Amino acid sequence: MTRVLVLNGPNLGRLGIREPEVYGSATLDDLAAACHAAGRPLGLEVEVRQTDDETELIGWVHEAADGRIPVVLNPAAFTHYSYALRDALAMRTAPLVEVHISNPAARERFRHTSVVAGVADGTVAGFGLTSYRLALQAIAELATPDPAPHTSPTSVSTGEAVGE
Ligand code: DQA
Repeated sequence: MTRVLVLNGPNLGRLGIREPEVYGSATLDDLAAACHAAGRPLGLEVEVRQTDDETELIGWVHEAADGRIPVVLNPAAFTHYSYALRDALAMRTAPLVEVHISNPAARERFRHTSVVAGVADGTVAGFGLTSYRLALQAIAELATPDPAPHTSPTSVSTGEAVGE
């Protein structure tokens, strides 16, 4: 089992009652249950955390870097302005996927910038809890070394001459 931290930033502890028209009716507990369920068949041991505190979140990012632990991160509003969080993430030693429940690109202008995206392997946004499921799938693939390196079709030999 590969250990994965699913880290959530400010106000995500209020899921369920927070702007349900934007974030849906699922609670943080529902989110955690969905992540555990999605992780199991992927061979991922998922731990879900949430904080409203930038210092605490950065501490978890350091912990992940020190332990070479892959991270799925919803930085919430920190996405848009926390250079301190970005600098912490830049020290990462394992895969990192940024997630969002909503699609920030389709919302207010200040949400169109992510200071985190440039240090992540990729971003999944706009699919509700499914953003987390897709991110865990990406982590499972990124964390597992490819046993058979990609071979281009032109170098595949069948032993038969072509065009005869
Ligand atoms: C969010 C999008 C952010 O813009 C916002 O500040 C959040 C939640 C999302 O999951 O859609 O708190 O990260």
